[in-house]
Amino acid sequence: MVLPLPLPLVPLPASALLGEGRVPVTESMRVIGDSPAAIQLMDAVAQRTGIRLTTTDAAEPGAITLRVESGAAPAEGYRLSIGESLQIVGGDEAGLFYGVQTLLQLLSEDAGAWSLPRVEIVDAPRFPRRGVMLDVTRHFFDVAEVKRFIDETSALKFNHLHLHLSDDQGWRIHIDSWPKLTELSSASAADGDRGGFYTQDDYREIVAYAAAHHMIVIPEIDLPGHTHAIGVAYPELVEEPVLNDGLVSQAKELGQPLPVKGEPYLGWGVGHSSVRIHEERTYDFVRDVVRELAELTPGPYIHIGGDESLGTPQADFDLFAERATAIVVEAGKIPVAWHEMGSADGIAEGTIGQYWGKTTPEGTHAEEAEHFVARGGALIMSAADAAYLDMKYTPEFPLGLTWAAVIDVQRAYSWEPTDVLDVPAEVILGVEAPLWSETTRTYADVEQLVFPRAAALAEVAWSPEEAPGRTWESFRERLASLAPGWRARGVNFHPAPEIPWVAE
Ligand code: ACM
Repeated sequence: MVLPLPLPLVPLPASALLGEGRVPVTESMRVIGDSPAAIQLMDAVAQRTGIRLTTTDAAEPGAITLRVESGAAPAEGYRLSIGESLQIVGGDEAGLFYGVQTLLQLLSEDAGAWSLPRVEIVDAPRFPRRGVMLDVTRHFFDVAEVKRFIDETSALKFNHLHLHLSDDQGWRIHIDSWPKLTELSSASAADGDRGGFYTQDDYREIVAYAAAHHMIVIPEIDLPGHTHAIGVAYPELVEEPVLNDGLVSQAKELGQPLPVKGEPYLGWGVGHSSVRIHEERTYDFVRDVVRELAELTPGPYIHIGGDESLGTPQADFDLFAERATAIVVEAGKIPVAWHEMGSADGIAEGTIGQYWGKTTPEGTHAEEAEHFVARGGALIMSAADAAYLDMKYTPEFPLGLTWAAVIDVQRAYSWEPTDVLDVPAEVILGVEAPLWSETTRTYADVEQLVFPRAAALAEVAWSPEEAPGRTWESFRERLASLAPGWRARGVNFHPAPEIPWVAE
C-alpha cells in the first residue's frame, strides 16, 4: 500500500522520521502490561478496528511496550517507535497518553487489513496550556455529552477543559450552601429550551473522566455580570437589569424578550446583569460558591468570569474584581478571569487573564490583558476572531454567530498566539478555544462547530512553529485523514470544503 504522505497526524509532532513499509495489526499483537494507557490503547484499537489486542507480562517480539521514563521526554512529551518492536515511552503519564493518541491516528485500513507505518516520532507540546471551553449555560449538555467532548478533544491533545457553569440563562452546578440556585435557576436555557444542572457527584464524575484523559477541569462562575440567573434564585444578590442600546436592538431583531428581574432570561443579550457590589452578602455568596467549587476541583484554577459587565459602574467593577480574585486565592486556588478584570489595579497577584479580544487588539483590551502580567500573572489566548468555535464557518452557515468574525478552518489555523499582545512570549501559557452555546441546541450542533476547527487550534497550541509541515497546505492534508476515525466514532464534524476529505 502507498503510504499517505504526510503522516496522518494532527497536531503535527515535533519530529517524525518515516521508515519503509508497514506493520500489520492483528489479534496476535500483544500489549505489555496493564497500565491505564495500555487499557486505553486496547479499548480504542478494538473500537476502531474490531481487533481485540491482549496483554502479556513478558517482552515478546512485536509486542507493544508502553512505559513512563522520566527524562525520556519533556513534560507531556513522548517517543514513539514503530518497527521491529513497537514502543511508546512517555516522559510522564500524560506523555504516554499522547503517544497512544498518536499511534491511534496512525492506524489505517487497506482492503480489510489494519496496519501502522514504520516511524520514529519524538514529540512534546509547544505550549503547556491547550484548552477548550464548553458553555453549558445557554444550552445544557449532560454528563455523557461532556464525556464525549473530552474523548474527542483529548485525542487532539487538549489538556484543559473550561466549563462555563453560570450565566444569565441558567445556573448549572449544585451548591449545597445556596440550594435555590439549582432549585429555581437551572431549568431554564436560551430560547426556552430545556436546562439542567450537574449534581456534585456528576461534576466529580466529569472531573475524574477528564483526569483519566489528562485534562484539568477549570470551573467558571461568571461574575459580576452574566448573573441574571442568580437573581431568579436570590433576588437580593443582584441589581435591576440595565438595558443597553445593543441589547434592546438585538432583542428586537431576534424577537427575543428583554430581561426582567426575578424571571428566567431566555434571550442572548449580554451586559444587563450585575451582582450587588456593595452588599456584604454578595461576598458571602462568592466565598461559599468558590469554597464548594474548590473542594470539588482538584485542578489549581477557578475562573470567575469578569467579561461584559456593562451594567456595573467601573469603580464598582474594580472593587469587585479585587475582592473576588482575593477570595479565590484564600480558597487555595489560582484565579482565572476574562481580560476585562485587568482593568482593576489590585487584582490578586498571579491571576491568569484570558484574552478574548481580536488578533489585532481593539480599545483597551490589550492594556487590560497586559495588566495581568504586571501583577505577576500570565495569559491564555482565546482571540475571538481565530479561536472562537461559535463563530460561523461561512456567512451562510446555519449555526453560530458572526460578531467577532467568520472563521473558516484556515482562519482558525493561521494565527500566532505570541504575536497578538506586546508581552514576553513566556507569559503566554497557550491557547483556549471556547464554544459558546447560544445557537447549539443539541450536542450534534456543538460537534458541527467544534470539529474540525478544534483540530486547527490543537495544532496552533501543540506543534512547534518550526516543525517541518507546520503549514496550512500540510495541515489540510493531515486533517483530511482524521475523517475516517471521526466517522467511525459518529462525530458530527462539518465537512468544510477547504479540506480534501478522505472518503473512507
Ligand atoms: C466572552 O466572549 N464574553 C468572553
